[in-house]
Amino acid sequence: MTTFERAERLGKLPPYLFKEIDRKKTEMKAKGVDIIDLGIGDPDLPTPRHIIEALKEAVENPATHRYPAYAGMPAFKKAVAQWYKERFGVDLDPEKEVLALIGSKEGIAHLPLAFISPGDISLVPTPGYPVYNVATLFAGGASYFMPLLRDNGFLPDLSAIPDDAAKRAKVMFINYPNNPTAAVAEVDFFNRVVEFAREKGILVCHDAAYTEIAYDGYRPSSFLEAEGAKDVGIEFHSLSKTYNMTGWRVGFAVGNSDAIEGLGAIKSNVDSGVFEAVQMAGIRALLGDQSCVKDVIGVYTERRDLMVQGLRDAGFELDSPKASFYLWIKVPEGYTSARLATRLLEEGVVITPGNGFGEPGEGYFRIALTQKKERLAEAIQRIKATKL
Ligand SMILES: Cc1ncc(COP(=O)(O)O)c(C=O)c1O
Repeated sequence: MTTFERAERLGKLPPYLFKEIDRKKTEMKAKGVDIIDLGIGDPDLPTPRHIIEALKEAVENPATHRYPAYAGMPAFKKAVAQWYKERFGVDLDPEKEVLALIGSKEGIAHLPLAFISPGDISLVPTPGYPVYNVATLFAGGASYFMPLLRDNGFLPDLSAIPDDAAKRAKVMFINYPNNPTAAVAEVDFFNRVVEFAREKGILVCHDAAYTEIAYDGYRPSSFLEAEGAKDVGIEFHSLSKTYNMTGWRVGFAVGNSDAIEGLGAIKSNVDSGVFEAVQMAGIRALLGDQSCVKDVIGVYTERRDLMVQGLRDAGFELDSPKASFYLWIKVPEGYTSARLATRLLEEGVVITPGNGFGEPGEGYFRIALTQKKERLAEAIQRIKATKL
């Protein structure tokens, strides 16, 4: 087979740390071992019925079969603005301050192409969602990693960012409720980010994929609730987690109109928008009955309580999360994150080692609550039975 010299940018990809674990997992599955996968953050619950019905109706209409408007259907953008007003009290101009995305990952991955040139820096949280760094590298930039430490509530310490990095920085990524640490941020933190960004001339990109998955009545804030946030930033949002729609590929970016226009300029040269039938289903999701979200939270709450208690009983140290469907847990003494993952895999339990999200994640592991209660209970039994 002919092979082809790959572009330099692919050589810049950070090493994939889960190769060995993936290999072992595949090998065990092939042998018929019963594996409980707590590694993947992909909801196991189905998309609510009324959203599926909306798609079915829309797809029957041939008008939806054509190329969509690049930036999103006016009705979809209006629905997003209405949802933002009701949920966060934030006003958005649907025409200039909303952009439909093929999932928030797509928007996050394209953003640096619009705002990062070779030699520029993105400020990137670590541990964190890997796309912020990789997209920066693909655009020819470099990441300055902001460590998220437990002592600081897993918020970046803005005062610790060196002047030199801040001067070269064009973009800052933040993400709350956070993947992988499950930490949350309040508006006072966002206010400090706005001040920092304004002073340094940085575009803030807040990834808000998990704001709707929150427990015990807690309601996470939007970055755009901070005073002056729209002057300095945008927010990425997604229907994936809120409505169990990861496979549908629909999300949106909102906020600063200049940044929205820049991202839109890249996108209009790369993709041709979100399938209109999916956007119409998205409108039903955003403006329809929200009791489905409450139901989903009810399911995750039971799972969270079961896992937090079970893991604490087994001697693990962890905070019970206020939001997101992740648990971020300390590895027991004498183990690295990778060694613990390998050991638990031998018992048929897949977890994600924290160092896979960046170096300060070493010493932690992540569990996703995207398995049924019975499977989670079984995972706890196996973990308890493991001599660690
Ligand atoms: C922090 C974070 N941001 C963004 C995404 C992307 O979600 P989507 O592209 O499905 O909207 C994910 C998915 O796991 C995520 O964890």
